[in-house]
Amino acid sequence: MKARQIKPNVYWVGAIDWDRRLFDALIPLPDGTSYNAYLVQGSQKVTLIDTVDPSMTDVLMSYLEDVPVIDYVIANHAEQDHSGSIPQVLAKYPNAKVVTTPKGKDMLVALLLIPEDRFITVSDGESLSLGDKTLEFIHAPWVHWPETMLTYLREDKVLFPCDLFGSHLANTGLYITDEGQVYEAAKRYYAEIMMPFHTSIEKHLEKLKDYQIDIIAPSHGPMYDKASFILEAYRSWVFGPPKNIVVLPYISMHGSTEKMVEYLVGALVQRGVTVKQFNLSAVDLGKLAMALVDAATMVVGTPTVLVGPHPNVAYAALLANALRPRLQFVSIIGSYGWGSKAVEQLSGMIPNLKAEVLDPVISKGFPREDDFKALDNLASTIAEKHKEQGFV
Ligand code: FEO
Repeated sequence: MKARQIKPNVYWVGAIDWDRRLFDALIPLPDGTSYNAYLVQGSQKVTLIDTVDPSMTDVLMSYLEDVPVIDYVIANHAEQDHSGSIPQVLAKYPNAKVVTTPKGKDMLVALLLIPEDRFITVSDGESLSLGDKTLEFIHAPWVHWPETMLTYLREDKVLFPCDLFGSHLANTGLYITDEGQVYEAAKRYYAEIMMPFHTSIEKHLEKLKDYQIDIIAPSHGPMYDKASFILEAYRSWVFGPPKNIVVLPYISMHGSTEKMVEYLVGALVQRGVTVKQFNLSAVDLGKLAMALVDAATMVVGTPTVLVGPHPNVAYAALLANALRPRLQFVSIIGSYGWGSKAVEQLSGMIPNLKAEVLDPVISKGFPREDDFKALDNLASTIAEKHKEQGFV
């Protein structure tokens, strides 16, 4: 494979994984992904920025066939999809050193058994001269692990942020061509991976205001030659107020909960509230996660199974709790046959959501007039709360 130039003596040397469909045995990848690594050839030193997933080490090594020397391997992040090929690179280049944060060193020693004497650790703001090019290291913990940093190539104004600003998108184009497609993929990526750490991401976005950036070169998905495209998207996801949206994940076994969902959705729409409804019997959890980025409210719909919520609903509640979206209000609707602790159990599953809990609506059997009235009240409360908070 031939390295692809992005600036004079700066090359993309990544691997495109068209077939990967699951990350961390959890996250769906409908469009595959890529593991982007970059080669920076300074007048005195040669550097590789990140590597690729161990399943694609051969691809990376094929780019390096004609590269006689590598002095440094920058490890922005210790997770194996970027660090996993470092041992093979170090084996080929016995004098190369791994440059990373002190925490990154600890983790790479533990995860990949790299000898301690192969490391140089860098502090926040430290720079490394390659001759006519300079790398600056920006510590950025919790993107989405504790050891992470970003690397800035000063003379060319290229930011290498590893996972930050990435998208799981297999694509042969170096830069984004279809903004809509990349926006969707980057938002899915933010929702699944970065949103739980949005308070850290807030700080990193503030820090990046001091840098002039021509190109953002993440380690997944295409690069951004208009940095403002992804910076503005992130600012809206992280800083923007929630929107006049209700996310409604639900499941129904015999039609009672489904009838309540159908009624509530109609009542909310009548009151000017947008609803994103997800039947959990066949859902892309990435789409649910994306909807949670913007929504002001989540209403969960569940029948009662063995006294508690349906397991698929419990799973969705636990996922929402782990993703820490900016939800302001939550509620539960559903049904039971002879007894239920679904509300108590579901409420206990979402301690991370700092949201006001609105009165649940639970019907015994198929919903009747009183239940529909209660659903109307719930819809009115949600619409009023959204107006009061300025989300409309
Ligand atoms: Fe793409 Fe956190 O690894």
